[in-house]
Amino acid sequence: MKTVKTVKTKNIIQRIKGMNDILPDTSRVWQWVECHIMRLFTAYGYGEIRLPLLEKTELFKRSIGEATDIVEKEMYTFLDRKGKSFTLRPEGTANCVRAAIENGMLYHQQQKLWYIGPMFRYEQPQEGRYRQFYQVGVEAFGFLGCCIEAELILMTARLWHELGLASKITLQLNSLGKPAVREKYRDAFVAYCQENIANLDEDSKRRLKTNPLRILDSKNPDLQALLHNAPRIQDYLDDEDKQEFIDLCHILTQAGIQFKINPYLVRGLDYYTGTVFEWVTQDLGAQGAVCAGGRYDNLVEELGGEPTPAVGFAMGMDRIISLILKSAESNESKLPSYHPHAFFILAGEAAEQQGIIIAEQLRSALPDLILWTNCAGGNFKSQFKRADKSGARFALIIGEDELSKNMITCKDLREDHPQQMFNISALIEYLRRALRE
Ligand code: HAM
Repeated sequence: MKTVKTVKTKNIIQRIKGMNDILPDTSRVWQWVECHIMRLFTAYGYGEIRLPLLEKTELFKRSIGEATDIVEKEMYTFLDRKGKSFTLRPEGTANCVRAAIENGMLYHQQQKLWYIGPMFRYEQPQEGRYRQFYQVGVEAFGFLGCCIEAELILMTARLWHELGLASKITLQLNSLGKPAVREKYRDAFVAYCQENIANLDEDSKRRLKTNPLRILDSKNPDLQALLHNAPRIQDYLDDEDKQEFIDLCHILTQAGIQFKINPYLVRGLDYYTGTVFEWVTQDLGAQGAVCAGGRYDNLVEELGGEPTPAVGFAMGMDRIISLILKSAESNESKLPSYHPHAFFILAGEAAEQQGIIIAEQLRSALPDLILWTNCAGGNFKSQFKRADKSGARFALIIGEDELSKNMITCKDLREDHPQQMFNISALIEYLRRALRE
């Protein structure tokens, strides 16, 4: 994320820590990514669902889990005027499931949904970790087996490829097994940690009481040897879970996707029930996860719906955009440009009034034309400077001479061609040809 220069004076209200303004130069990259996502997800049969930012607090407590970091200390929760507790959504899966149940979309049906928008977590802000951040999420309901998991992963791999990020992002996989399996594993892991309690750090001792499996993804280098020797969830999976995981790995290998099985990948949300995965990068420092998800077959029922298998993921848009900006050189030619094709120089009040009308005629005739008009006064020299700074290829000019002849002058600002005077129809044809080049 580009650092925004802020003006600090006493009277200016500053943005909230961890919540960013996304300025036009960067938002064009967001739009480019969003266009790819929209087209790709549609092509795989996913429909967009638009969800509220605010939900009842209970929804997140019941789904994400009371003992998770998100629910324990990261939610923006407040009471409304009637004393009801609401929370700004910290993620999209819970409210997507809530909406799918409430709108009768799940009973005996399959649904493939995606969403995009801001999420809110009260975390310690740093590069790649914000308090308002943006996720694009995908949830597939009603599908059992590993094919849908493989397809979701292949869809994201295709996206990385289209965005020019394929060489920067790698896939990690694990299976957490069914809840009963995980329960057994948790007991074994807790027993192991208790035997080694003297070697745990303070954070892990705290997690041991609240959410012990999270110790597994501790980044503390001093804990790595201890974790290396800890019991592994793979040894606890039942035959069905094991086979599913083997089949998934097989499909991915067949499809040419490289991955690493990471037994320490446990995820920070409680609802997962099988395969989990993360796409990670080395290029964003500590905040390496750019996309994460997995299977959560019990959540629909836990939130009051009929039992429905489900699997999905969410990608962190802020991190993806940072990655793209870091490799801006290789991507620049693919990004949409905000530079106008033409800049209208209008000298004097009468020329301005005439120019606005002509600009409209040009826009009607050439819908792809990006045309800026100078509506800010100034002499020819200052307007030419603005035209040049805008990056426009052409300056269109109306001064006294053009006004009297009902013509427009066109000057190529980038190549050394003599300027020409056109009537409106000839100018439309000239610009049409230039836009095709
Ligand atoms: P999550 O791992 O909490 O999963 O978040 C998914 C992605 O959101 C992360 O990999 C990261 O890229 C981005 N992200 C998370 N927190 C922040 C932050 N504070 N600042 C910037 N980016 C962030 C979920 O949210 C699940 N709902 C994913 C899912 C969907 N599982 C099944 N379906």
